[in-house]
Amino acid sequence: MSNKIEELRLEFEKALTEAKDRAALESVRVRFLGRKSGFLTEILRGLKDLNPEERRLIGAAANRLKGEVEARLAEAEKGLQEKPRTTLDLTLPGPEIKIGHLHPLTQIIRESVGFFEKIGFQVREGPEIETEWYNFDALNTPADHPARDMQDTFYLAPGVLLRSHTSPVQIRVMEKEKPPVRIITVGRCYRRDAQDASHFPVFHQLEGLMVEKGTHFTHLKGILTAFLEYVFPFSFKTRFTPSFFPFTEPSAEVSISCPVCQAKGCASCGHSGFLEILGCGMVHPNVLRNVGYKSKELTGLAFGVGIERIAMVKYGIPDIRLFYENDVRFLHQF
Ligand code: PHE
Repeated sequence: MSNKIEELRLEFEKALTEAKDRAALESVRVRFLGRKSGFLTEILRGLKDLNPEERRLIGAAANRLKGEVEARLAEAEKGLQEKPRTTLDLTLPGPEIKIGHLHPLTQIIRESVGFFEKIGFQVREGPEIETEWYNFDALNTPADHPARDMQDTFYLAPGVLLRSHTSPVQIRVMEKEKPPVRIITVGRCYRRDAQDASHFPVFHQLEGLMVEKGTHFTHLKGILTAFLEYVFPFSFKTRFTPSFFPFTEPSAEVSISCPVCQAKGCASCGHSGFLEILGCGMVHPNVLRNVGYKSKELTGLAFGVGIERIAMVKYGIPDIRLFYENDVRFLHQF
């Protein structure tokens, strides 16, 4: 019988360590001390059937255990009250970590730069604050040239302005480097355009320049056709139409057939069937002369691509302003 009491003590210890909350403690209490069928209650109730000697021994041991059980339960209950309500549950899944991604314009820039690097062009940089000389004059656009009107832009001081295109980098590179030159440059440009769905005062251009003996228009056509096929994931026709830039001669505008209507004419191509993508041409001899290149021996090609334009056509984005609003609902899609 006294073994039984010892067993009960061990059982109680085990049950107590497993009881983690109030409800569990209560069921331990009922199991051992419950009035109807608690283990200890039953032993005490059974004392009357024992002989006097056993009754004295067992009774004392059982009462001692009862006292202990009561004290331990009270202690455990107090311990529960003192414990902070929330405990660290390492089995809970952690909070979701949202991983960002590159801005759609950055993606287009990296893809485009990647293409030109593959075919042997090197990347150069130029300042966003330019002088009139680099932005206009050296590019064969003197002060009285009507082409300046279109790029009437942000002057910071007389003769100093935010560049209106990336073409001044052509001049900066040729001043420093000897031909052959095969470079691209990417960056922000600024124009005092009124904002609408396709104009924003800040935008990005990718400029390309190749100057070396024997460069001709077929190189220009081949390079740009390959570039457009690389960057647009759908099938289309490429169209070169005559245009004018003071720093190229001849000059061309490059368009692709509208991917929405397959050149039939719809709202997204202004019913023309084509979307204008970039400007280009053969470097004007005056430009080569302005940087001290031998304009008789050398020829060159140049092009300027609107990065926003590429992204808008590629992804079917109707409004240029979406790129700059930083609305995650828009950005998440790329
Ligand atoms: N700089 C021209 C523009 O911004 C684009 C261009 C670049 C055209 C190079 C020809 C050659 O419109």
